[in-house]
Amino acid sequence: MTFTIAVSGKGGAGKTTVSALIIDYLSRNKLGSILAVDADPNTNLNEALGIEVKKTLGDVREELLKIGESASSKEDYFEYLIYSEVIVEGDEFDLLPMGRPEGPGCYCYINHILRKIVDKLSRNYEYVIMDTEAGLEHLSRRTTRDVNIMLIVTDPSIRGILTAKRIKDLATELNNKIKRFYIVANRIPENSLNYIRSEIEKIEIELIGYIPEDQNILIHDLNGLPITKIPRDSPAIKAIENIMTKIVMMKTEDSISKILG
Ligand SMILES: Nc1ncnc2c1ncn2[C@@H]1O[C@H](COP(=O)(O)OP(=O)(O)O)[C@@H](O)[C@H]1O
Ligand SMILES: [Mg+2]
Repeated sequence: MTFTIAVSGKGGAGKTTVSALIIDYLSRNKLGSILAVDADPNTNLNEALGIEVKKTLGDVREELLKIGESASSKEDYFEYLIYSEVIVEGDEFDLLPMGRPEGPGCYCYINHILRKIVDKLSRNYEYVIMDTEAGLEHLSRRTTRDVNIMLIVTDPSIRGILTAKRIKDLATELNNKIKRFYIVANRIPENSLNYIRSEIEKIEIELIGYIPEDQNILIHDLNGLPITKIPRDSPAIKAIENIMTKIVMMKTEDSISKILG
């Protein structure tokens, strides 16, 4: 059964970093097949993971639009293009870069087919990790299907925490298929954890864990190195382990409840 984790939050809060750390955790512990979905039009999850992207789903959509309805109505052909040109197959995980959303023009039909294909494709994986954009475009376009858990990343700022609350409210309004919401508090200085915790309590979204400010992430970022290559004893690695232990348990719970009906 596919378990989908969507990672959201305000711009710069750490969505891509958290997504990459989660993907790294799942692949190192060999917890099942993984599809990483980069749903940010800026497409930078691949850099955090240290892999190259050739084409995005958005690029293929533009090409199909040019070909016209007759050729583009062939679902098999779409599927072939996505598998052969868009998905990057890694040893430990595959990556689907969504690319830019559509411009003006009638994309409804193409989008409908693309969504169907992405949904079908997702079902082949044990885990789908979506790094989303700062806005909630992906939710209003309904590209998010069943989401088992939405992690809302916040930095240690009141603005970040209030944005988290807005994201949850909007996400609930747009997509009723999100099963759980949790906050990941990122870049938290040790001495302000209690304060941040009390502020998060006010917005009534449970805190699943926090990630400290990690010098190794900063250094890797400065040097253009993937986050997946930070030393194993980095504080962020330890922090993500704590968070992921809880999430893996939720996956088991969901699988059991699905079997029992
Ligand atoms: N825990 C952390 N410690 C140190 N630097 C971090 C941490 N989390 C994120 N960063 C840095 O903050 C910046 C923004 O993070 P990023 O994950 O790209 O945010 P988003 O995807 O939400 O826009 C990046 O330069 C990243 O390296
Ligand atoms: Mg990002």
